[in-house]
Amino acid sequence: MFLERIVINGGKSLRGEVEISGAKNAAVAIIPATILVEGICRIENIPNIKDVDLIVEILYKMGAIVRNIDKTTLEIDCSKMRFAAAPSDLCRKMRASYYLVGALLGRFSQAQVDMPGGCDFGVRPIDQHVKGFEALGANIIIEHGIIYAKANELKANNVYLDQVSVGATINVMLAAVRAKGHTIIENPAKEPHIVDVANFLNSMGADVKGAGTDLIKIDGVERLHGGTYTIIPDQIEAGTYMVAAAATKGEVLIKNVIPKHLESISAKLMEIGADVIEFDDSILVKCSGEFNKVNVKTLPYPGFPTDMHPQIAALLSVANGTSIINESIWDNRFRYVDELKRLGANIQVDGKIAVIEGSHLSGATVKACDLRAGAAMVIAGLIAKGTTIIEDIDHIERGYEDITNKLKSLGADICLSYKPTKLVKEKIV
Ligand code: EPU
Repeated sequence: MFLERIVINGGKSLRGEVEISGAKNAAVAIIPATILVEGICRIENIPNIKDVDLIVEILYKMGAIVRNIDKTTLEIDCSKMRFAAAPSDLCRKMRASYYLVGALLGRFSQAQVDMPGGCDFGVRPIDQHVKGFEALGANIIIEHGIIYAKANELKANNVYLDQVSVGATINVMLAAVRAKGHTIIENPAKEPHIVDVANFLNSMGADVKGAGTDLIKIDGVERLHGGTYTIIPDQIEAGTYMVAAAATKGEVLIKNVIPKHLESISAKLMEIGADVIEFDDSILVKCSGEFNKVNVKTLPYPGFPTDMHPQIAALLSVANGTSIINESIWDNRFRYVDELKRLGANIQVDGKIAVIEGSHLSGATVKACDLRAGAAMVIAGLIAKGTTIIEDIDHIERGYEDITNKLKSLGADICLSYKPTKLVKEKIV
């Protein structure tokens, strides 16, 4: 009935402290991974975001017992779960629903899950997931948008991933932790959330070694037991606040982070002209001068994350001179460019390259085309002169906990506003 929008009056420097929530991309993998566990999993530092609500609802509908202990702690018990097809409508709304395939295969030797949804960056294939499941002995059929997986018994194997893939690496780990024998994943992704999922599985009794390196070795165990696990802080949420602090020429202490996970972002911000000071579990970003032009190439971890590309583009749109962003992970992550242009950015896109000529931004109405594009609109709105209105903010709420209040506490002039839809207007008339 009402469309939620974010309204920002730009031009205020961010100052103060902000607490980073648990990592989205770890949480949305660890929650389905509880299917593999016959016992109670207590998971702490869960971010309060819509993608988490969705994956929890999927598990609940599939027979998991879920208890909210407090705002950031969940207990999930899948011990009495029986095999069931995953709920189609919900699976199609998010990317991480593909982890249900690995988890269900690992527990029940079968899975039926709709092809995942999530942000639209052009083609998002799952051939490497399929290759991994087949190597472990599963038969995979994809028909009418549904993935059917079945194995008599999963057996360990060597899996070489042709493409570094976060999703395929985690999915193969999930399928392999209870498969008989010794599985090796070669050319895996090394993102912090890969290590977090492996640590979660190990704390429940699995035997996964080498996560975060070039080779992951898994010795299958018969069953996983319950336990308590705390999710790592969100690398991309932290990076987004780091960029916002620099972009507004502010000074922000970003708390509850793992500075090592942020090195590529810190290095780029220093090149742009910001000061970045690392502490044990926090990072201070301050900036007062002009922004230097820089070139950015997105790469798998430990390279500069693709999920920080739109946010850094927002900052570079007001830097001195011409910056270049080379997007090497996704075919089409540039849908945010047309929206930034509405605010006055001067950006040309050619294939996977964006050429950004520094200019001035001023407020307008823009859309959040996807999650990180939405974060870029927020940063651009904070920089822009005048009022920026961001629509379609559902995307932002999928992955950022309480972004308006966190930014408000740093001094931003930002609020949620509600616009009646046409239907409500007609009723009012
Ligand atoms: N790819 C293949 N075949 C596959 C899988 C991937 O060719 O079977 C290709 C993709 O087309 C892409 C590259 O490999 O070119 C990397 O894709 P990856 O599988 O790593 O991406 P993903 O698992 O679908 C996760 C994050 C994304 C993030 C990417 C890259 C989750 C739920 N999503 O997606 O996060 O962009 O890794 O780091 O973990 C976000 O949080 O905003 C987001 C989009």
